[in-house]
Amino acid sequence: MATHARQGPCGDLASRLFATRKLTLDLAAPLSDADATVQPFPDASPAKWHLAHTSWFFETFVLRDHAPGYRPFDDRYAFLFNSYYEAEGPRHARPRRGMLSRPSLDEIRSYRAHVDEALERTLPSLSPAALELVELGINHEQQHQELFLTDILATFAENPLEPAYGELAPPACFAAEPLSWHAGREGIVEIGAADAGFAFDSERPRHRVFLSAHEIANRRVSNREWRQFIDAGGYRTPTLWLSEGWDWVQREQVSAPLYWRDEATEFTLAGRREIDWAAPVSHVSFYEADAFARWAGARLPTEAEWEDFASSADPAIGNQLDGAGPVLPRPGGGMFGDVWEWTQSAFASYPGFAPAAGAVGEYNGKFMSGQFVLKGASCATPRGHSRASYRNFFPPHARWQFTGLRLARDA
Ligand SMILES: [Fe+2]
Repeated sequence: MATHARQGPCGDLASRLFATRKLTLDLAAPLSDADATVQPFPDASPAKWHLAHTSWFFETFVLRDHAPGYRPFDDRYAFLFNSYYEAEGPRHARPRRGMLSRPSLDEIRSYRAHVDEALERTLPSLSPAALELVELGINHEQQHQELFLTDILATFAENPLEPAYGELAPPACFAAEPLSWHAGREGIVEIGAADAGFAFDSERPRHRVFLSAHEIANRRVSNREWRQFIDAGGYRTPTLWLSEGWDWVQREQVSAPLYWRDEATEFTLAGRREIDWAAPVSHVSFYEADAFARWAGARLPTEAEWEDFASSADPAIGNQLDGAGPVLPRPGGGMFGDVWEWTQSAFASYPGFAPAAGAVGEYNGKFMSGQFVLKGASCATPRGHSRASYRNFFPPHARWQFTGLRLARDA
């Protein structure tokens, strides 16, 4: 691709756009076409699909709708790479994405180049409304960068050869910080994104909530503490579990975090390695997080408690994604980075919520059923992507993301 002139009012947007597009390509660099085609389970997508779908998003919502004369790379791709946008018509079934041995990885790279060149040509003449869609497209692609890494981890975890996506330094011999409790604010506070700056529609409007007296832990639950939960029979004690969670533990025969392989090792993006006992536990479901909290005599924080506690923390600080390569939660982090933190709050609309106009209104609002909010950021979240008001969400059984927890309790 040509060097990009990044002058004028959209210069910063252009540099972030093309840096984001490049990072996605760089993430795919270590993969073979076969690696990039596997779909490890229906909720995860092949790497190749992520590369194409993020391009389809720009092609559809920016280029088709706002760049007169734009010619799609391939008219058939809309069917293949539309994820869930009903307004954009029928699409290939999600659980069958792993069947797409064609187009090849190289063809998808050409698709990306086609879209990037059109974006570069078009950007200077886009309307403010179209530039907002470019901003949404950047944030969308960053979300898929995280999914790209978690889906590759899930893909390689299926392979008895235990392939490594890349190399990571061995664990440093940190001890976890002692657990302490901070008094949260009591009374009326405000949560949600303010009007200025980018945020997803689900983060707005900013509004008032009431916080009861509570305390929140200074750090996340560690792997060592999770080991203690296992040794204490946590996975075999039905009274610790929500009914649906207990059914899930029985049905799926869950007895440890998703990628723990034996007493001492776990599977990571750097292959199998020793569990770092001081690091925050990761790859646990909402059900597991909730059961652990009950076992520990505590509970999960509400979204509002977490957000108010984190409101003075810098979301750009912490173990987050800075460039292509493997990532892993590490000991000693703050509110952002390492693992997303489960809250006890359902992903539901805020008072006065209105979905974004047009087809992108399907982005968040239609998923406000049966999902729980996660706050913070993980080691796979591109730095700069998250903020205190950010509302990640997954169903309560999901655990292939970098998901952990921080305890809270009533005071
Ligand atoms: Fe998407």
